[in-house]
Amino acid sequence: MNYLEVKDLHVTYRTAGGEVPAVRGVGFSVEPGRKLGVAGESGCGKSTVALALLRLLPSSATLSGEILLDGEDVLTMRWGRLRAVRWVGASIVFQGAMHSLNAVRRIGDQIAEPILLHNTATPAEATRRVGELLEHVGLPRWRARSFPHELSGGQRQRVMIAMALACEPRLIIADEPTTALDVMIQAQILRLIDRLVGEQGISMMMISHDLSVLADTCDRLAVMYAGRIVEEGPAGTVFAGARHPYGGALSAAFPRIGDPASRRAPSGLAGDPPDPAALPGGCSFRPRCAVAEDRCAEVDPVLWPAGPDRAAACVRVLTDEQAAEAGVPGAAATATPEKETSA
Ligand SMILES: Nc1ncnc2c1ncn2[C@@H]1O[C@H](COP(=O)(O)OP(=O)(O)OP(=O)(O)O)[C@@H](O)[C@H]1O
Ligand code: SF4
Ligand SMILES: [Mg+2]
Repeated sequence: MNYLEVKDLHVTYRTAGGEVPAVRGVGFSVEPGRKLGVAGESGCGKSTVALALLRLLPSSATLSGEILLDGEDVLTMRWGRLRAVRWVGASIVFQGAMHSLNAVRRIGDQIAEPILLHNTATPAEATRRVGELLEHVGLPRWRARSFPHELSGGQRQRVMIAMALACEPRLIIADEPTTALDVMIQAQILRLIDRLVGEQGISMMMISHDLSVLADTCDRLAVMYAGRIVEEGPAGTVFAGARHPYGGALSAAFPRIGDPASRRAPSGLAGDPPDPAALPGGCSFRPRCAVAEDRCAEVDPVLWPAGPDRAAACVRVLTDEQAAEAGVPGAAATATPEKETSA
């Protein structure tokens, strides 16, 4: 059984300027001990999905759908149960989390807090566990007595990972865990997360705008665009041969780690993602899509099968027969001459 299963998740923020539909019908699953990578440009809804998983969104957000954690729906859980699930069922390493450590408390006390809150540990046991966790993330035990300002950025991020591991969660949600760090430290932290998750059989959802980082770390990839997953499948095949033009553009923009030739000439993607409050009609990627067809203005693509164990929300993955079945006009009927493809 999947440890995490998300079905038709919608999140809308209420703002002074009106409603912002940030997540529009997202579904995915993570098996026990497996790693899902979620990629996409800024504003596509990655953090909103991550925060929704543990109901950490502000009160201005309205949610619908299902978020099944070990079969239990997080969205209908009572607060007491939700508190128990946070840290133990799933924990989260926030985007820029290293800045959210409490500046005036020693890091050992901060790591011990969830342990004392959730486990029936004595203070002495919690202290011992803090020491073990620090060693686990490559920091000496005496660092428990340090204050956050006495640590480097990379060390602070290690502390955040130690906190996320403190209650031995079954799922870790890592939202851009390395974005604020320099490249060398990024690689170290990613290797560390990879090792810990592998050793302990923890499931993971890792979020990044960098598809190459995810392709190296994760089993499966989901690519988000304008609040939806537009491509999903095994990490290697999605990265090497995206079926959605946006997935293709992302792979090209973030070439494979250690491939200097491709890194010198990444092909960028022109334009910006749409404002979620004012999405274009038809396929929301259409204004930036180099291979758009006339019919793309008429359909709002959903994830269609796009090869073994893969799916993509693009009319071009459909055969004429499948298009007819899905009520999508056939390519031949409306096709315009193809521009150069970015996929
Ligand atoms: N609290 C909020 N109130 C209103 N709108 C919000 C709020 N948080 C996020 N949004 C909007 O929802 C959309 C998705 O934001 P989100 O932070 O989930 O994107 P993201 O993919 O994590 O981006 P990034 O890569 O920059 O972290 C954006 O348009 C953003 O402006
Ligand atoms: S549906 Fe059309 S516009 Fe959208 S990604 Fe596919 S080809 Fe491009
Ligand atoms: Mg984010």
